[in-house]
Formats: sequence, structure tokens, C-alpha cells
Amino acid sequence: MAAAALFAQAIQYSPERKVWLLTTRDSSYALGVAADGALRHLYWGPPLWRIDDIAEPPARRDISSFDPRQMLENEEYPGWGGPLYLEPALKIAREDGGRDLVLRFVSQRTEPNALEISLKDIRDPIEVTLHYRVYPEHGIVRRSATIRNGTAHPLTVDSAQAAAWYLPPGEGYQLSYLSGRWAAETQINREPIHEGVKVLESRKGHTGHNFNPWFAIDRGDAGEENGRVWFGALAWSGNWRIAVEQTPYRQVRVTGGFNTFDFAYPLQPGETLETPAFYAGFSERGLGGASRALHRFEREQIAPGGASSRLRPVLYNSWEATTFAVNEAGQRALAEKAAQLGVELFVMDDGWFGARDNDHAGLGDWGVNPRKFPQGLKGLIDAVNGLKMDFGLWVEPEMVNAASDLYRTHPDWVIRFNGRPLSELRNQMVLNLARADVKEYIFTVLDKLATENHIRYFKWDMNRAVSEPGWPEETPAGQRKLWVDYVRNLYEIIDRLRARHPQLEIESCSGGGGRVDLGILSRVEEVWPSDNTEAFDRLRIQEGFSMAYPAKIMSAWATDVPNMNGRSVPLMFRFLTAMQGALGIGANLNKWNTQDNQLAQKMIGLYKIVRPTVQQGDLYRLLSPRGGDVTANQYVAADGRQSVVFVFRHSQQYNTSVPTLYLRGLDERAIYRVEAVDAKLAERQTQLSGAYLMHGGINVNLRGDYDATAVLVDRL
Ligand code: DGJ
Repeated sequence: MAAAALFAQAIQYSPERKVWLLTTRDSSYALGVAADGALRHLYWGPPLWRIDDIAEPPARRDISSFDPRQMLENEEYPGWGGPLYLEPALKIAREDGGRDLVLRFVSQRTEPNALEISLKDIRDPIEVTLHYRVYPEHGIVRRSATIRNGTAHPLTVDSAQAAAWYLPPGEGYQLSYLSGRWAAETQINREPIHEGVKVLESRKGHTGHNFNPWFAIDRGDAGEENGRVWFGALAWSGNWRIAVEQTPYRQVRVTGGFNTFDFAYPLQPGETLETPAFYAGFSERGLGGASRALHRFEREQIAPGGASSRLRPVLYNSWEATTFAVNEAGQRALAEKAAQLGVELFVMDDGWFGARDNDHAGLGDWGVNPRKFPQGLKGLIDAVNGLKMDFGLWVEPEMVNAASDLYRTHPDWVIRFNGRPLSELRNQMVLNLARADVKEYIFTVLDKLATENHIRYFKWDMNRAVSEPGWPEETPAGQRKLWVDYVRNLYEIIDRLRARHPQLEIESCSGGGGRVDLGILSRVEEVWPSDNTEAFDRLRIQEGFSMAYPAKIMSAWATDVPNMNGRSVPLMFRFLTAMQGALGIGANLNKWNTQDNQLAQKMIGLYKIVRPTVQQGDLYRLLSPRGGDVTANQYVAADGRQSVVFVFRHSQQYNTSVPTLYLRGLDERAIYRVEAVDAKLAERQTQLSGAYLMHGGINVNLRGDYDATAVLVDRL
């Protein structure tokens, strides 16, 4: 079946049989209404083209009184009602104590790439609209739900999930997911799915360092480039939950949305609750194929500006060089050095405002510290702009120190339970962004900063999670809205800010990679994956990151050594590691010698040549840092004209050679010029065909510990 024909109708609907078939480049997804009016999942896998092949949902019979038919029926969006003991998609509590919810099909609306299906409880006007959007060219389906209380009484939503996804019947499924902690984020795990529920989640008010809202499932036979992979990513920067469940009947299902922990969202008559979006896809080309599909989708459909957004500039950030000890003279000196190296965006980090000499004071007071910056920010920004660099500024708007004017004036603005201890972490408290006045205050502060200064970029930090999530000014029932409304207001502030300042770009940072998900990614240009900038540790952090997110948004800096784990790797290794994302420098340039500066100039020059390929190309993970002592990643430009392979050796033993690198994604018939940094290519020929590069492979000479190179492959 030609791809064009598949795309002709991304959504097919059979009104007689009430069956839908959603089709993308890589996958199809089918659902239908059963005889009892329940909406049931029918298919998720490789593309299908004929809706007539999809049978209506079959009638099932109870296996036993303990195994009712509802447990076998794969309800597309199950309300908690009847004999259903799975993870429900929706659970509510009525004012009168009635808590069961049986959702039945009401109506549907189909557009070329979008579908809406309305469901309603069998008795009450508790309505659910399921939203589907198909991205045919990207192989992605988006799902979310709107819950409406159409009754005359308040109700509470106890659980609201974006979607339940069902894997085809089968055995031996494996789950891949990302876990970690501060400074060790996005570590890859792969494990068998057993009966029961595996929960990936955040209970911390932000996306979190401990799990990232992404999953991939395969039949136990998938590798980097082979095998079927079902994958998904949730777009929510607050408490989220993905439950991967295998039922006693061998059905694997994934339910995701708002975390049910401490969740209770009151809905007054007529009010609605919108769930986050859950994106999913299917790849026949292994985990590599899955991540390439996600990368392209995120770059083109999620990131602000999409495909037309500019390439990320080379950035300098002052944090590791100066920490809080910033002042105009010091920052100007760093800016001059950074400009000489080829930096394009100079970002001043923490320490420029209020009484911020350390992390004990100042958060909340966003006036420029006059002792450090007697002319305000203008002097520094003019100097930076004069050096032909854009200026970026660090902010942490959601936080407050007790030692601040803001806290002294508004102690009631922080998240807390009255009369209970309030944990300070990094000496700071979290402002209750769910409050309308706090939201307005934060918007006004940032709007003023962006209006009065020529700021191109905010690095938006959040250095602690939420604890003691109280909102004493609200009713007891209303307090728990905090988990959702905080994030909605965060999104609103960013959206309004961007609308008022179209040139403004934002980096999402939360003490490293604590806020990376598709919700925030639709609002920011870059994210900070980890406070751990040690290059060897970074290889693994970046590998995990690349499972779900593209290189273009991944801020990566070359920094000083010894780094946080005490390791010292050569500057070349550090640069090449950072060049696999949006390159930045976070070193103290005052300490760099001539040799360091020359190397930096050379590497930044090289980066600018390969930047479109790295930032917008396809990534092939050739050798994993988890596999051996060599890591290799290849990027192939969208137009196929350029490729670059980054190769790293950790510790060599027994004088073994680096394994042959079999390149991917090239044109077999084309001839390429091949050249390695520092002439580390072992091949004698400098011109090789795509066929040879992919099937004969190339060899590089990396002799010692922490040796690294990059191989440039240019189509002739
Ligand atoms: C945590 C961030 O991840 C760092 O890069 C730096 O901005 C500090 N906060 C500043 O306090």
C-alpha cells in the first residue's frame, strides 16, 4: 500500500458499525463501540488500510464470577464502575457518596486528522470527551480527555487519566523506562513486564528526576534497530503517573495521566477538567526507530516554532565559573572571552538579584543587586550585545527564601499546611502558583524584566520539589486543586510571556533534568538535562535522554575538571560529549590557557559546521555506553548530505581496538568524504561509498583512556 494512500484518510469511520481506524506513516490504531455501548480498543500496531478488516468488538462472557467479562473487554477509557479491577481511566465521587461510573458512547465528530468521541455515564450527565489527534507524517497519535460535570451537584474526580493504551495480545513483553535522581537523571532500564502494575510517577509537583514520563514496550526481541516497539510520552510537568499493567488474562495495558496520589479535583456543576495529553507511537525499527520518530515529532510539532525554529546558538553560562559571585566587571570579562571562542548567547546565572550572595537569601526579590550591577543590567547587556552575543538571564520565579522582602510581605504565598512544619530545601520555599495573585506577581516580574532589558533567553530554574502541599486559604476540598492548577498557571505564565515577547526563548531547568516532558517542551526551546556535567557520566545521561527527546533541545556544556564526581577527562572528550546536543560552555574561562582556547575555538567551529545535522538530523546510537568501553553516536542530516559520528573511549584494556563502526542511514550508492578529528580514522581511503560505510564499516584509533574523536561524513 502506497504511503500516500494511507495518508489520504488518516481517520476512517464506519458509521454503521461504529468502528474507527486511525492511521499514520508507521501505525494504525482502531477502536469501536460494542453492543452494550461501551467504547473498546481493537488494534494498535503496523499500518492497516482497510477498515472493513476491523470487526466490531466481540461480545464476551464471564469466565467465572471472579473473572467477569469487563476484565477482558479492553475498554478504551474505562470509568471505575461495575466489576472492573483494572487501573481505571476515570474515577469520580458524587456528593451523595455514589462512586461508580459506567461510560457509554453518545456521539462522535471526525475531522481529517482529529476525532472526538463523547461518552456519558449510563444515568448521570457526567460527560467525557475523548480527543484523538493523528500526526500521519510523524507516526504519532495524541490522546486526552475532558471530563464535565453536567449534574446539578458537585463531584470530585479521584483519578483522571489521559488514556489507556492496550498492547496486542502476546507474551514476553519488556518495558523500557527512564529513572534516576539529581545529577544522575535519565538512566535506561529494561525489564520484563510481569503480572501486576509497575508505576512510573512523580509526586513532587514537577516532572521529577526519579522517573521521566516516557515508556517503550517491546516483545523482548527488539534492539536498537530491529523489532516492534510501542512507545509513549506524557505531556505534564506536575504530578503524573504511568501505570504499566499486565492483567491475569495476559493483557498488557498502559494508563497515564494525573497522578492519583493525593489527587481529588472538585468539579462544580458545569465545570470541566482537562487531562494532560498522552502521545504514543509504534515503530518496526527498534528503540532507535522509536526515538527518531519522537525526536522529529517533538522538533516539528511540539517545540515552539516547530520545524522553522532557529538552530540553537552556542551558549555560555556563568554558573560553574562564578556561582553566586557575579558582578558586572566579572561577567563582562567572561563575555569577552566567550565571544572570542565563538559563543553566540551569553547567559548570566544565579546571583544577580536581591541579597543573593548565597542560597540563603534573595529568591523572590527580582530587582537587580545595585552593589553588583551599579548600572542595572543595561551595562552588561550592552556589552554582551556589543560583542555580537545575545543575552540570557537565570530566574527561579516559583521560589522564595525566608530572607527576602517578598516573604516578609507575603508569608501566606508559600505552599504550606497551617500550623505544621514547613520543609525548606536549599533554604527555599515554593510559592503557591495555583493562587491567582501569585501567578500575576510572577508574570509581572518576568514581563517587567523582559520589557526593560534586552533579554533573549530566560533560564527558568526550579530548585526544589513541592512538599507539605497545603493551601490554607482554600476550602479543604479546594486545596488539592493545587497539584493541577499550579502547573496550569505555570504554563499560562510562560504562554503569556511568550506572546508578549515573541523573541524571548526559554530554557527549562529544575536543578538539572527535573522538568523535562512534552508539556513544558511545547513552551521552551531548551532543557537542562542534568547538573552533572562530567562528560563520562553525561554520556549515559544523554543516551537515556535521547530515548525520548531530541538533541536540539538538550543543553550540554563543556565544563571544568575535576568535575562533581572527581573525574578529569580531556577537554576534547568534554567538547565532543557536549557537541551531541545544543552546545554550551560552562567553564571558568579565566582559567583557560592558550591551548584550551585554541581547542575550544576549533571545536566550536566544527560544531557550527555539523550543527544542523546534530540538531535536526536522525540519531543512530551505534554503541551504547552501557555496553562496553566505547560509545558511538551517529547523526545523519535530514537531506542526507552530511553525517557525523562521535566516538568515545572510556578505558582501554589489552590494547584492543575500537569495534568497527557500521554507519547507518546513508545512501548506499553515494560516495562520501570521510575525515576524523585529529586524523583518528584508521581507514586509508578518504572517499567511501555509503554501502561500504554501512556494511564494511569504519575504524577509528582511540588508544588511551578518555580518548575521543568525531568522524565527518560528507556526501560528494
Ligand atoms: C541549578 C541549576 O541546574 C544550575 O545550572 C544553576 O542554575 C543553579 N541551579 C543556580 O542556583
